[in-house]
Amino acid sequence: MIDLAEQISWTEGGNTVNTQWHSEKGMPPPKKLLIADDTLTADAAYRLASEGTAFLWRGDFQNARQLLQALTRRAERPIKRNRKAINAKTKAADDAINSLTPRDVFNLHRQAQSQRARILDMVLIPIDANHHIPLRRAPDVTEACMEVYGAQNQSYVISLRELLGIVSAHEWRKKGVLIDSLKAGGSQRIYPHYGVFSPLRGEYIRLVASTPLPAAMKTESIAFDIGTGTGVLAAVLAQRGVRRVIGSDQDPRALGCARANIRQLGLEQAVEIVSTNLYPSGKASLIVCNPPWLPARPSSPIERAIYDPDSQMLKGFLAGLGEHLFAQGEGWLILSDLAEHLGLRSRAELLSWIDAAQLDVLGKVDTKPHHPKVMDEKDPLHSARKAEVTSLWRLAPK
Ligand SMILES: C[S@@+](CC[C@H](N)C(=O)[O-])C[C@H]1O[C@@H](n2cnc3c(N)ncnc32)[C@H](O)[C@@H]1O
Repeated sequence: MIDLAEQISWTEGGNTVNTQWHSEKGMPPPKKLLIADDTLTADAAYRLASEGTAFLWRGDFQNARQLLQALTRRAERPIKRNRKAINAKTKAADDAINSLTPRDVFNLHRQAQSQRARILDMVLIPIDANHHIPLRRAPDVTEACMEVYGAQNQSYVISLRELLGIVSAHEWRKKGVLIDSLKAGGSQRIYPHYGVFSPLRGEYIRLVASTPLPAAMKTESIAFDIGTGTGVLAAVLAQRGVRRVIGSDQDPRALGCARANIRQLGLEQAVEIVSTNLYPSGKASLIVCNPPWLPARPSSPIERAIYDPDSQMLKGFLAGLGEHLFAQGEGWLILSDLAEHLGLRSRAELLSWIDAAQLDVLGKVDTKPHHPKVMDEKDPLHSARKAEVTSLWRLAPK
């Protein structure tokens, strides 16, 4: 059920109107709000939104979408202008740019993203009970909102951007992601839910599908998948013949999603999904973990699968591995070195955590990611992404 604890109020037709407010990011209701319709120009909207004024849309729904696109273009413009200005400017500007470390570039990039999000989140949409949008040419979003918010018998207001994210997640959930490491002949699809890490990059999954299983598996055919997300790695291991796989996660959306995928693939006999912090009880012959790759603070709950503050999950996985492995068992850590290229974590730090956990590195298999962002030269993180390597680290107690 959606959390509608907060209220938003405004004046309309001489009356004060109160309704429920919701933001997945935990954004508070905007303090200044105007009623807006198709007469609002993008320039005026951009100026007001930059100053912190939100718009409750009463016009045509498709025009609201266009307004959001126009605001997005404007929100990206200052960055381009700055770059141009900087290119043309003096040596001082060159020096300033050259003195930025990759970590500075990453932090500036995140700052710019969050400023942009603050502006773009100012276009608000009213939604009636049962997730009906009372606007002209509005799509039917009932099913998409039901999946994320559950049944709802009150009206509420959310940002258009959040709504479009929910609609796009609904489409992915219907269509699924093709996983070539799943057995041909079956569905070979994983259906990600809203807010759950989507296995769009196949490379790391292929590593888990092709690395030889540890010797301990011959006697104890049990594996754990720590932080299972959609359940994709648990499913791959079960299809490789592991008799019992336990996938763990802490996020209720991931748990629901993983269970649905395991059911859909007909793997319920082999795979159990449990709600726990890191390790389930007991031991396994193989323990895989693909923690969020970047040690940074998530700015919203849906970023928790990407950012691991202070590398907590990574360190927790390493620290607990030894006590959860059978003799001759292995831990497989899936980790990209993007954090190293961004100066957020060094290789020496990672090796020191492995060592402190009394673990040996038995081997490391590398792969180069091929996702579209690697090709985007305008991406401020391009050089780090181009150099990125994803590895499967085979670990065992000393
Ligand atoms: C990068 S995603 C990986 C998902 C999936 N294993 C995959 O490879 O596609 C990391 C997952 O770890 C989960 N997670 C984060 N901290 C956790 C913890 N302390 N215990 C269990 N799961 C956790 C997140 O909810 C998320 O689903």
